[in-house]
Amino acid sequence: MRILFVGDVVGSLGRDMVSEYLAKLKEKYRPNLTIINGENAAGGKGITEKIYRQFLENGAQAVTLGNHTWDNREIFDFINDAKYIVRPANFPDATPGTGIIYLKVNQVEVAVISLQGRTFMPAIDCPFMKADQLIEEAKRRTPIIFVDFHAEATSEKQAMGWYLDGRVSAVVGTHTHVQTGDERILPGGTAYLTDVGMTGPYDEILGVEKEAVIKKFLTSLPVRFEVPKRGRVQLNAVLIDIDNKSGKAVKIQRILINDDHPFFS
Ligand SMILES: [Fe+2]
Repeated sequence: MRILFVGDVVGSLGRDMVSEYLAKLKEKYRPNLTIINGENAAGGKGITEKIYRQFLENGAQAVTLGNHTWDNREIFDFINDAKYIVRPANFPDATPGTGIIYLKVNQVEVAVISLQGRTFMPAIDCPFMKADQLIEEAKRRTPIIFVDFHAEATSEKQAMGWYLDGRVSAVVGTHTHVQTGDERILPGGTAYLTDVGMTGPYDEILGVEKEAVIKKFLTSLPVRFEVPKRGRVQLNAVLIDIDNKSGKAVKIQRILINDDHPFFS
């Protein structure tokens, strides 16, 4: 099983990158399953039904979310019918949507789980205990389990990687929007990357217009963060190969496309 996972798609520039490169990436790397983190896809905040459908049309089979899940109110109208959206599983039980889905690829089932961190983030249920619960459930169906851990703190992400090592196929981090260079397969067979990075504006700060962010640091005054619609772009992703029988990862490779790292087909 080969999984291609695209890091946080931010705004229209990010969506354009997905439209332009996802087919090319799929042709080059031939993944069996493609997953996109789309929690910043609608102007940086949340996702709409149209964007969700566009991602599926672009070639994704699942869309994971994060702390911006509820920021575009449209989500409440379609999340319960969107079979391929995975929002963080450790939101309280009364929350709409689901934090785990199962996808079948050539008779092989894959569990896709989204979890959200709690360090420097809104208070929600414990992602570690929720992981235990969902892994026990998923193991009854498949050894192949993919986890998107949407978290701010590197330490919390590393803790999740080590906590789940040997129990899931992959733990990849999202949310901080900067790709880390620490991809590895942990001793128990879990592929790990602290952050996959983002897809969208390249010459800005975490996908947001840099002037406003700099002003905020200089003045501490309230500023309005805008996601630019023009400028240079990037796409960050990760590719993971998993043994179908054992569910253990055999390879993890980062993908980075920008003007400093051009794409070669
Ligand atoms: Fe986020």
